[in-house]
Amino acid sequence: MKHKILILNGPNLNMLGEREPEIYGGDSLDAVGVACQHKGQTLGMAIDFRQSNSEGELVTWIQSAAVDFSGIVINGGAYSHTSIAILDALRAVGLPTIEVHLSNIYRRESYRNHSYISQVALGVICGLGAQGYLLALDALARIVDED
Ligand code: DQA
Repeated sequence: MKHKILILNGPNLNMLGEREPEIYGGDSLDAVGVACQHKGQTLGMAIDFRQSNSEGELVTWIQSAAVDFSGIVINGGAYSHTSIAILDALRAVGLPTIEVHLSNIYRRESYRNHSYISQVALGVICGLGAQGYLLALDALARIVDED
């Protein structure tokens, strides 16, 4: 059966391309989503690409992922640095999770140097822009095939 991967984007990522492009790049979130769909096709995985500005909605989506998804890629945006609720939800569903950030959070303000999501992520990719999502899908394709 084809593996389904949930890609989640947190707050303000809907503004990608317009928001601080010198940090986050010039691609829109839609463009990143299209690139992920293409990558999914080459890897034989179905991609569900979503964004929400609401912490609760992200938690609800993570909870319901247990039903038919094989893995999660998440860029939690600023919630990565603050949200124990997202950490708990990821831990509760126990799906293989890769954390992505467009920017290198370790080269930035100290409040961005810590991520709760990293506590449960199998791997973290940051600083490589939108390419990070595609690398995360490559990694997950191997991980879910081993299961
Ligand atoms: C981000 C980094 C976060 O610190 C920031 O709040 C974001 C985007 C990134 O992709 O680099 O919204 O997750």
